[in-house]
Amino acid sequence: MSNPLDIQPAEGYILPMTMDRTTLPIGVFDSGVGGLTVLKALRERLPNEDFLYLGDTARLPYGTKSPRSIARYALQCTQELVERGVKMLVIACNTASSVALPPLNEAYPDLVVVGVVRPGASAGCLATRTKRIAVLATEGTVRGGAYQDAIRELCPEMRITSLACPLFVALAEEGWTEGPIVEGVAARYLDPLFAELPENRPDVIVLGCTHFPVLAKAIAHVAGPGVAIIDSAATTAQEVVECLEDDGLRHPRNGAGSVQFLATDDPGRFARVAGIFLGYDLTPGDVTIIDL
Ligand code: DGL
Repeated sequence: MSNPLDIQPAEGYILPMTMDRTTLPIGVFDSGVGGLTVLKALRERLPNEDFLYLGDTARLPYGTKSPRSIARYALQCTQELVERGVKMLVIACNTASSVALPPLNEAYPDLVVVGVVRPGASAGCLATRTKRIAVLATEGTVRGGAYQDAIRELCPEMRITSLACPLFVALAEEGWTEGPIVEGVAARYLDPLFAELPENRPDVIVLGCTHFPVLAKAIAHVAGPGVAIIDSAATTAQEVVECLEDDGLRHPRNGAGSVQFLATDDPGRFARVAGIFLGYDLTPGDVTIIDL
């Protein structure tokens, strides 16, 4: 696959292909804490695996950045995780998955990389009865068109509306997940879509951003009955399980695995917001700060 952004990994990259990789952690990265919704689903499916999660909080949001910057950040996150030793990589960020998957695959041909776009697209296609899907995402994801491509590949006749909802990221990061302000913002984004004639309205909303699942209740309330809300975390976790099994990379232990958290900015904020996404509390001491 070509690398139109012509971005290369840093020198000195070595993937430990010759050693037993089963006991290495699974690397997961996101622009911030949103990817923790994917980590949560991964831990539920793979409780005996170890995870190394990197939130690039210093450079959040990715969704408003240029494709070149997003790809560069994604390659730096990957390099960091690979150098620390991971057996596979999950891009728990729709924006990075949309833009950076081809250059990442080219730069790290031996690394198994799973993004969140294809699993989300396939879950959306399975859920719709009317073949009308709305994708809510960041500006970068909408601009890149990765969801449209992935959905059309599965079902060419699907009618897709993609909506950039950047304020949802700020609300989720702020921990404002329900109530009149969140519903007001959701209504501002969604009303034009649902003002359509009933036969033209989508019956599925794909949450094409890892920050959005924490707002799912408010989004569902505004969308009204009969609209399925799709969060790609569970389908992504299923794809990761299949990759590990295909490559013989499941961890041999029976007991519980662990998670290590890395972030590129203030551990206090990361820990405070993380609880909303993870479902349990972290302390700043649980988060290691790194520079990329
Ligand atoms: N995690 C990003 C995504 O899933 C949203 C936040 C951002 O813009 O960086 O697209």
